[in-house]
Amino acid sequence: MTADFHLYLDSADLGELRACLPHPVVHGVTTNPTLLRRAGVSRAELPTLLRECLALGARQVQAQVQAADTEGMLDDARRLLAGFDPGQLVVKIPATRDGLRAGAQLSAGGHPVTYTAVYAPEQAHFAAMLGAAYAAPYLGRLEDSGIDGLGLIARMQALVAQTGAPTRLLVASVRSREAYLALLVLGVGAITIPPRLFPALLDHAATVEAERAFLADAQAMA
Ligand code: G3P
Repeated sequence: MTADFHLYLDSADLGELRACLPHPVVHGVTTNPTLLRRAGVSRAELPTLLRECLALGARQVQAQVQAADTEGMLDDARRLLAGFDPGQLVVKIPATRDGLRAGAQLSAGGHPVTYTAVYAPEQAHFAAMLGAAYAAPYLGRLEDSGIDGLGLIARMQALVAQTGAPTRLLVASVRSREAYLALLVLGVGAITIPPRLFPALLDHAATVEAERAFLADAQAMA
């Protein structure tokens, strides 16, 4: 049996992504308008970026709607979904009143949805009620605002689990290996990390050193 957990890379920068992918521990790539802007990716270039991520081995890619009203969100979502296989593209929608309306329609149509910018346990519960694939709280940003982020995410996790829905918390704004480990202990179903954290998780210094010593001994063997 394999662990039922999804690790995502949170970036729209192909250079950063190529430094990590392809890799079998990575389930997919998450983006948002801020990451796209930072990486200099235009709206028109977004589908190409998402395809490149799939070509690099991402099993799912996530892109966010860029409207605030339900109809605008649904139009955006249809545009984003065009040309992707069912299930490949996860539509990210802020967990606003209109966002929940749009997301519910997409979920009912069989499209995976992530409700993003989830700041309160009841929002995660709504995501589960509406059959979302993911609900995304921001750990680092919660803690920046003086909230016990891990404690709040633990409450979200308990509420979502209680519904029995297959919705996963997809925790974003994860800035350290310690935060990543604490979230694993909470049992969240998915975490998205900035690519700069990838080496801290994949390249343990002691393992690299042990391998170096083994290779030196292998070379010196008769
Ligand atoms: O996906 C949200 C993430 O990009 C925010 O991270 O560290 O800027 O709060 P951070």
